[in-house]
This record gives sequence, structure tokens and C-alpha cells, in this order.
Amino acid sequence: MSISAAFRARAKPLARAFTSRAVDGFVGGVGNTPLIRLEKLSRLTGCDIVAKSELQNPGGSVKDRAALGVVRDAEQRGLLKPGGTVVEGTAGNTGIGLAHVCRARGYRCVIFMPNTQSQEKIDLLRMLGAEVYPVPAVAYEDPKNYNHLARDFAKDLPNAIWTDQFDNTANAEAHYRSTGPEIWEQTQGKVDAFICATGTGGTLAGVGRALKEKSDGRTQVWLADPPGSVLASYVSSGGKLKERSGGSITEGIGQGRITNNLGTFVKQLDGALHIPDQKTIAMLYELLDTEGLYLGASSALNVVAAVELAQKLGPGKTIATILCDGAYRYQSRLFSKKWLKAKGLEDSVPEHLQKYAVLD
Ligand SMILES: Cc1ncc(COP(=O)(O)O)c(C=O)c1O
Repeated sequence: MSISAAFRARAKPLARAFTSRAVDGFVGGVGNTPLIRLEKLSRLTGCDIVAKSELQNPGGSVKDRAALGVVRDAEQRGLLKPGGTVVEGTAGNTGIGLAHVCRARGYRCVIFMPNTQSQEKIDLLRMLGAEVYPVPAVAYEDPKNYNHLARDFAKDLPNAIWTDQFDNTANAEAHYRSTGPEIWEQTQGKVDAFICATGTGGTLAGVGRALKEKSDGRTQVWLADPPGSVLASYVSSGGKLKERSGGSITEGIGQGRITNNLGTFVKQLDGALHIPDQKTIAMLYELLDTEGLYLGASSALNVVAAVELAQKLGPGKTIATILCDGAYRYQSRLFSKKWLKAKGLEDSVPEHLQKYAVLD
């Protein structure tokens, strides 16, 4: 059965168990997200394809966990005291997570980002109470790169931290302590494989380490990679780092180096899959049409990867992945006919799903 045919097949009635207790504020609401079994893809592959719905974190993405993790770590180590300042260089979800956590904890939040980013992103961070500095978009090697400016800003300020999401391993630690154990519990220890793409590497390294430990090494952990990233070839070649080239429609994932977060786990990876944008965009529309899931592109890529891994490992397995965020932050692109055409992706969306590209 093709993926499209499997998607069109009728769904089984839903069984739902729900328990909840009140939690304390934004911070208490981070984590404990549902693990969603993707019905049609499970039927197609003969595996259980399960996806951690991280878009249901209160800030709307998987990065709420990392944001809370790095702030908590700084508090515990005495680096951040009441009234302090949290500084990060970020154009995306980490800034949003940090802005929320800072409001909830009473910190000033300062975000540096390249001035090529959309006005919506800048506005959103400002609406969440962050101070935003859009700066010229220059290469990482340039001392005026937004990451270095964030680091330097924090260095000169009392009671301030640069959260350094790529190399601060409190990021992976947050996933090791929460996301990984949650997946283990929600699958009742029956998770055969986990796969996801990486930006900082925090999610993959933290979840991967937790699942390897809990399963005594039985759970396979794979990396998924978009075009323009060097990581899949790094893993498949046994550690050769090639020059970065090309790009992808996905945001927040893909990397040109082994960050400290990924470095805590990269040697234990069982393999890597490269996922082209054509498959990612088709899956994004399929998941909307048949599961009612309105997802960003990194989530769709993760699901493509989970299906391919299921096909590799064979029927009867449980494969877990991550739904990183919703499509709300990207809808003017992902559902625009003009944008799809400009990216050469208009033919990648199956004909019966093109009705969802409602924007010109
Ligand atoms: C939408 C999205 N997906 C995936 C990721 C990757 O997560 P990680 O940084 O834990 O590797 C990010 C990170 O910013 C993201 O914003």
C-alpha cells in the first residue's frame, strides 16, 4: 500500500486515557506532552509510529524544555540570581522559550538575531517581553556574528548569563531527564528505535542517552538530517566532517559542526538518514489531511525518517520521534503556492492535497 493510500484508509475509533493535575505556572506546564500514535503510518509500516507532541508545550515547541533546562542549571550553579539577565543568540524557538521562562521567573531577556529574520519573529519576541537586537547577518567566524555578540553582551553585565544553547550541555540534560524518560514510560519500555533531526543536538543526545540507558542499549537511536547539513554523512562515514553546502526549507535543524550537545552522544548513534525536502513537504500536507496535525517542517521530516526507519527495521517494532512545533510560525511560506513554486516543491505535494496551499 502506498503512503497516500494508507492515509486515505479509514481510521480506527479513538481510545483515550487522560489524567491531569494542576501544575505551577508556565514552568510547571513544560513537558509531559502526549505521545501520539500515527494511525495510518503505523498501519502502512506494520510498526507503531509514535510521535512526542512537543508543540503542546506552553511556548509551542520542543525548545521550551531546553530553555527551562539552561535557566534552571544557571540558577542551581548560582550564576543567575533574582532580577538577572538571560542573553541568547537565536532566531527561533529557543528565544520564544527563553522569553516565556524569563517572564515566569522575573528575568530580563535579551535576544540577538540576524537582521534577515522576519518582522513577525522580532515582534513576537518583543510581545513576550524580550529585548531584541537584530544585527547584520555575518558568518560564525566573524566576531560580529549574533552568537558572539550575545556572549559578549552577557560577559560585560553583572548577574547575567549567555545560555549558549549549542554548546551548553544543560540543554541535552533537560531532555535526558524529561523527554527520554517520558517516551520510555509512554511506550512501557517497548521503544525499539528513536529518530529525530538536530539543530543544537540537545533533543537527540538527551533522549538518545536516556533510552540507551533504560533499555541496556537495546533501543536504536538514529539521526535524521535535512539537505545542507553535514551530520548524516558524518555518522555514515564514521566521523568525516565535510564542508557544508546547500540548504533546506526546514528551520531549526541541520548543522555544520558537532556541537557539545551532540558530542555527548554522537559515538553511540546507530545510524543516520538523509531526508530530502520533497518528502518532507509531502508528509507535512499528508499529516494535516489525515491526522489533523498542523506541523512545522522539522516535525514532518522527523515523521518521514521514522517511517523509513520502520521500513528498514521491519514490522512489529515501535519507532518514536518528535513533533517539534506547529505550522503557525511558518504558514505564510509552507501554505503559499508562490513559495512552493519558488522552492521547486509544487509538484511534491500530491494533487489531492494541493487544496491546502490556500495562500498565493
Ligand atoms: C522547529 C525546530 N525543530 C527542531 C529543532 C532541533 O532541536 P535541537 O536543538 O534539540 O536539536 C529546533 C531547534 O531549535 C527547532 O526550532
